Amino acid sequence: VKALLLRSTEGPQSAGIEEIDTPLPRAGEVRVALRAASLNHRELWISRGLYPGMSLPTVMGADGAGTIEAVGAGVDPALVGRDVVLYPGLDWGDSEEAPGTGFGLLGMPGPGTVAESVCVPAALAFAKPAHLSHAQAAALPVAALTAFRALSVKARVKAGERVLVTGIGGGVATFGLLFAKAMGARVFVTSGSQETLEMARAQGAEGAFDYKDEQWGKALRQASGGVDVVFDGAPAASFAAYGRALATAARVVLYGSTGGPAFTVSAPDLFLRHASILGTAMGSPADFGAMLDFVTEHRIEPVIDRTFPLEQARDALLYLEKGHRFGKVVIAGGEA
Ligand SMILES: NC(=O)c1ccc[n+]([C@@H]2O[C@H](COP(=O)([O-])OP(=O)(O)OC[C@H]3O[C@@H](n4cnc5c(N)ncnc54)[C@H](OP(=O)(O)O)[C@@H]3O)[C@@H](O)[C@H]2O)c1
Repeated sequence: VKALLLRSTEGPQSAGIEEIDTPLPRAGEVRVALRAASLNHRELWISRGLYPGMSLPTVMGADGAGTIEAVGAGVDPALVGRDVVLYPGLDWGDSEEAPGTGFGLLGMPGPGTVAESVCVPAALAFAKPAHLSHAQAAALPVAALTAFRALSVKARVKAGERVLVTGIGGGVATFGLLFAKAMGARVFVTSGSQETLEMARAQGAEGAFDYKDEQWGKALRQASGGVDVVFDGAPAASFAAYGRALATAARVVLYGSTGGPAFTVSAPDLFLRHASILGTAMGSPADFGAMLDFVTEHRIEPVIDRTFPLEQARDALLYLEKGHRFGKVVIAGGEA
C-alpha cells in the first residue's frame, strides 16, 4: 500500500509517498482502508525532528477516516465494511483527568494515517458521523478532540458566555469557534490575516481582531465587556493583551505554545478576578465519543481549507507550513 513515509528530518521535503507492506491486524485490532486523512501542525514538528522519542522511518499522520476491511483475532468480523473515524491516540490509560505515561499518538510512535491502510485497536475505531463525508470526518480527530475537551470538560462553557479563540486560522482554533458557537457562546477571535478574520466572521464570530494591532486587547474589552473563556494556542503572543479583558471567574485554557513557551502573568489579573489558567492536550477515548456525539447532534461540518490527493501529501505539508489560511488541510481522493 502507499504511505507518506518520513525518512529524515529536514522538514516536509524529507517526506514522500512510498510503497509499504500491507499491515496485518493483530489480536484485538482492525485494519482500516483509509479514505481520507488530515494534517496537524504536529506533522511539521515531526518532519523537523522536534518531537520526543522519534524513530525513523515512520508513516506520518494521526487523523484518519475510512472503512474497516479486515479484523484480527478476537474481533467481530461483522465490523468489516463499517465506516469509521479513528481516535488518534493509543493507551490513554484509566483516568479521565489526564493520560497515563504510556500515551502516544498515531503517526509517531504509532502507525500513521496518511496511507492507504492502517491497523488500530478495534475499540478506537468509532462510527463515522453519518452527515459527514470521509474527508470531513478525517478533519476531526486531533483538532476537534483538543477543542472539545478544552471547551466542554475544562472550561465548561455555558450558553451566553463570551469566548475568545486566538489564532483562528489554525485547525484546532477553527473547531474552537464552531464548538463554542454550538454551545451557545458569543465568540471573539484573533488572527494575523484580514482574509482569515473575514472567514471567521462568516462562520459566526461576533468580533474579530488583528493580533498585529497593539490595541486589540482594548478593542476586545470594549466589544465584549470582558471574556469568560479564552481558548489559546499562542499565550506568549496573546496573554498580555487579553489578560486585562478577563471577566470575573474567567477560565483560560491553553493548548499550544505557538510563538514561544514562556509568558508573563500579572497575578492581580487572575486573583482579583477569581480567574484560572488550565492546560489541556488531546483527550480520552470517552471525550472523543462525546465530541462525535456533539458533532452529530449539532450537525457540525469541519472547515476544510484545502484537499490534496495522497500522491501530493508532501505538497500538503508544505501548504500547511506556508500557505494555509483557515481550517484543516485534508488528504483524500476525489470521492471521499
Ligand atoms: N494540546 C494539544 O493537544 C494540541 C493539539 C493540536 C495542536 N496543538 C498545538 O497547537 C498549535 C496549533 O496547532 P494547529 O494544528 O491548529 O496549527 P495550524 O493549523 O498550523 O495553525 C497555527 C496557527 O497559529 C496561529 N498563530 C501564529 N502566530 C500567532 C500569534 N502571534 N498569535 C496568535 N496565533 C498565532 C495562526 O493563526 P492565524 O493564521 O489566524 O494568524 C495559525 O493559523 C501548535 O502549537 C500545536 O503544536 C496542541
